[in-house]
Amino acid sequence: MISENKTLDKVYTAKDHDELMDAYGEWANEYEKDTVDRFGYVAHIESADAFEQVMSHKGAYILDAGCGTGLVGKELSQRGYQKVDALDCSEQMLGEARDKKVYHELFQADMSKRLEFEDNRYDAVICTGTFTYGHVQADAFEELVRITKPGGIICFTIREGAFDDCGYQEKMAEMEHGQSWEQVALVDATYFVKEKVSCKICTYRVTA
Ligand SMILES: C[S@@+](CC[C@H](N)C(=O)[O-])C[C@H]1O[C@@H](n2cnc3c(N)ncnc32)[C@H](O)[C@@H]1O
Repeated sequence: MISENKTLDKVYTAKDHDELMDAYGEWANEYEKDTVDRFGYVAHIESADAFEQVMSHKGAYILDAGCGTGLVGKELSQRGYQKVDALDCSEQMLGEARDKKVYHELFQADMSKRLEFEDNRYDAVICTGTFTYGHVQADAFEELVRITKPGGIICFTIREGAFDDCGYQEKMAEMEHGQSWEQVALVDATYFVKEKVSCKICTYRVTA
């Protein structure tokens, strides 16, 4: 069992992508116990609620990017969404997600690179807990836009601190000025209840 501090330390201080994947690989089967039970992680619930406010069509084809163990997929399934794919870089996290039996297809892929999906594949993308320190950088927004249909929705969290420190806001604004997407909502939400950490939930509509 990994201790509370070691767990977070390993994930947040990973020096590169391989170290991050090692950390998630070790953490996968304890991830939910640590994040939800110990730290009071609620971002998956908050983001599913925000997503539902803008995407009422329950038959929409959705990608849960950075799905982890499938907490978001479970929330979407409980809200009636019927066709949700999952993508994550970590084989072990994807394995946990697969066991939930809430996903249509699951893909192991690196969101920092070009994804092997055709343009305009999805009606919507949701991405929770993955735009944060040492994880996926702002450049990945471009790929999310490419694989989402014009008029489709992209909804993601950005952890407090990382929102100001990691260039996400600048990229979001640049893409709005470049008419790649338009902002639908930007709200403060709780990330970890017990640790008193917040996040932004950002919702964009891909320009038609
Ligand atoms: C904090 S977890 C969030 C998981 C899930 N969305 C949730 O809300 O519980 C971050 C996830 O991002 C994944 N991840 C990190 N870097 C990635 C990358 N470059 N490409 C794809 N997934 C990545 C990790 O493997 C991990 O499962």
